[in-house]
Amino acid sequence: MRLFYLLLIFPFLSLKAAPIDDLSTFRRHYQQLFPQLNLQDYANGSYAIDFISRQSWLSIEEFPPYIFAIEAGKILFETPFKNGNSYGDCFKNNGIAIAHLYPVWDSEHSEVITLAKAINDCRVDNQLTKLDYKKGEITQLLAYMAYTSRGKIINIKISGDNPKALAAYQQGKDYYYQRRGQLNFSCALCHIQNAGKHLRAEMLSPALGHTSGWPTYRLKWGEMGTLHRRFISCHKQIRAKSPKAQAIELRNLEYFLTFMSNGISINAPSTRR
Ligand code: HEC
Repeated sequence: MRLFYLLLIFPFLSLKAAPIDDLSTFRRHYQQLFPQLNLQDYANGSYAIDFISRQSWLSIEEFPPYIFAIEAGKILFETPFKNGNSYGDCFKNNGIAIAHLYPVWDSEHSEVITLAKAINDCRVDNQLTKLDYKKGEITQLLAYMAYTSRGKIINIKISGDNPKALAAYQQGKDYYYQRRGQLNFSCALCHIQNAGKHLRAEMLSPALGHTSGWPTYRLKWGEMGTLHRRFISCHKQIRAKSPKAQAIELRNLEYFLTFMSNGISINAPSTRR
């Protein structure tokens, strides 16, 4: 709203409104592809459009395997560190119902902070070692924190008056559209242009809503994994070298992709094939 107001006064700022324009272009594309879907349906990835896999997914969701991760995460989250602090002390609102606001732009360090990175930063500030960013304890903490945000609407701010935040967003966006790997595919080619089409046994999900359901219990992994673990799997599919989980490129990518999901509620954790 404030940005819109600014634009009225300073029309030359319109370049900085690019993320908002991107968001409406993005939504329009999928509305045309899948006119039967509501915005919130996109939280369910390919199960929003693949009615055959949807049935087995719905039955798994009745007794979802991620329940254990939420419970373990709650215990980890509430157990004090050796110094008496706990995770809640590192976050606004004690870390409850805030997952829909991440990633955030950290203007002090000029970088995108994802919730996973914020968890590890909290550990380092409390003299603890960092957790693995792909699986294990971090997925439990993320599952619990995301669960307390369930139903909250993703609301990422790209401050229009901060050129560095905008540049990080732009890098994430460029990454999404860049072709890479031996197969020379971009993320966009599969999840934007070809969303709804089959790739072997799988139906390609729309990028809209892609960040809503993470972390996820993936049947293929037989365990919980993070969003960045999924990013890395997608690089492997096209035989591309991936940056490491939480490398700056992937954090910027998450910044872009989460902004594109603004307006959709968190439905994490979730189960996927
Ligand atoms: C060759 C096609 C292909 C490319 C390229 C590709 N993906 Fe995927 N991606 C898939 C398939 C297949 C799945 C699993 C089914 C689905 O959800 O689409 C998937 C799933 C995902 C999911 C999980 C969605 C959910 O709700 O479970 C995310 C997030 C994702 N991809 C992001 C990316 C990103 C980011 C890139 C670029 C770095 C990328 N993908 C490149 C094929 C691709």
